[in-house]
Amino acid sequence: MPRRQLTTSRLVLRPTSAADADRAFDIQSDWAVTRMLSMASFPPDRDEIGRWFADHRREWAAGEAFRFAVERGGRFIGLVDVDEVRGGDGELGYWYEQPVWGQGYAFEAAKAIVRFAFDEVGLSRLRSGHAADNAASGKVLLKLGFQPLDTVQRRSRSRGEDIMQCRYVLANPARS
Ligand SMILES: CC(C)(COP(=O)(O)OP(=O)(O)OC[C@H]1O[C@@H](n2cnc3c(N)ncnc32)[C@H](O)[C@@H]1OP(=O)(O)O)[C@@H](O)C(=O)NCCC(=O)NCCS
Repeated sequence: MPRRQLTTSRLVLRPTSAADADRAFDIQSDWAVTRMLSMASFPPDRDEIGRWFADHRREWAAGEAFRFAVERGGRFIGLVDVDEVRGGDGELGYWYEQPVWGQGYAFEAAKAIVRFAFDEVGLSRLRSGHAADNAASGKVLLKLGFQPLDTVQRRSRSRGEDIMQCRYVLANPARS
């Protein structure tokens, strides 16, 4: 799968690079963002984030994960990705800096990456999930057509406690 950027009416989604780590660190320094990310540490660790971004090119080449920096007017405002790609399945994730919330960007970017994952990568199914107290993310998933699956207990690294996670699935209509 060649690395390429996607465009929507307002956004550019470009494959991430190691140079994105500083902006990601700034955005994840906001507790309102990071408390919703079960795999992230808080406060964020700059070196760990740097190592994570530095591995994205390899992940893409291996077909393991496709991660995009979301840009609005040339500014990195967030990230959308499909990771844990295996057996025709993948996991959708996203996060944005707080000043841009509520303008439909998460939905717009996620819609583009869902199309990419189904039409170009050829995945059969996407999974996603959000903390039970993250209603905005639930709205995004439902608007994308995701179906609620179940609610499970899982560890939140950022919160340092177990949370309830609402899980969803979306089947590729062309393959079901
Ligand atoms: C969740 C998040 C991605 C949403 O981004 P966004 O760009 O604001 O999302 P959108 O504008 O596309 O859509 C948000 C929807 O949730 C709604 N919403 C916002 N806050 C809400 C709340 N507290 N309760 C219910 N709905 C809410 C909005 O009205 C909108 O719905 P609408 O289009 O029907 O009006 C963003 O808040 C974020 O990055 N949060 C921190 C990280 C995170 O939660 N990532 C997802 C982990 S599962």
